[in-house]
Amino acid sequence: MSPSILAADFSRLADEVNDVGDAVPWMHVDVMDGHYVPNITLGQPVVASLRAATDHFLDCHLMISDPRTYAPQFVALGAESVTFHPEVDDDPLSIVHALRELGAHVGVALKPKLPLSLVEELLPHVDMLLLMTVEPGFGGQAFIPEVLPKIAAADDWRGAHGADFRIEVDGGITVDTVAGTVRAGADTIVAGSSVFGHQDRRAAVRALVDAAIAVQSSART
Ligand code: DX5
Ligand code: ZN
Repeated sequence: MSPSILAADFSRLADEVNDVGDAVPWMHVDVMDGHYVPNITLGQPVVASLRAATDHFLDCHLMISDPRTYAPQFVALGAESVTFHPEVDDDPLSIVHALRELGAHVGVALKPKLPLSLVEELLPHVDMLLLMTVEPGFGGQAFIPEVLPKIAAADDWRGAHGADFRIEVDGGITVDTVAGTVRAGADTIVAGSSVFGHQDRRAAVRALVDAAIAVQSSART
């Protein structure tokens, strides 16, 4: 579970993150550059401040056109995990290797319409595959169910190749949509509005985790 701070109140970000507290150890940080996506969110200074304000594992999702230049900067500021969209670069594998050499967890992300084949070459080398379940750029959008077969295909690929990367889903995740993604093979859940849109963030996290675990338990029986 990785709550997205995009839905938090940015004027009191440290309080917002600490409000979730140790209910969940990860925090999803959406970086947007106004080029890769039609929106601008936050950059290095905010990640540096967050790093100083929290012990959470910072799961940075870079929706930017130039990850080769900027992704290492987020690692240097203390982000444990950096995920980028690989189709923006001619040689994304070299970015993956460079980030791993810096000691970061590395993820690659796919927009809803992009096929798994685009990242197959990268999958043996990454820690996480992020499958967008909305078009990147904005929080609070509706879940796109057409992505579910791609989640299942990624899970199949992982099993067939003995790989152990996480499958993270991002966008429109609610207590109603989370089940389908977990059933398809997702194991890491990003949620912005479904956490920070609620007064009691810990209860919101618990509700999402419970909905996910219910699927895993029923799959075993
Ligand atoms: C969208 C971002 C998401 C966003 C999810 O481009 O990558 O992480 O914060 O927000 P919700 O959960 O509100 O759809
Ligand atoms: Zn994200």
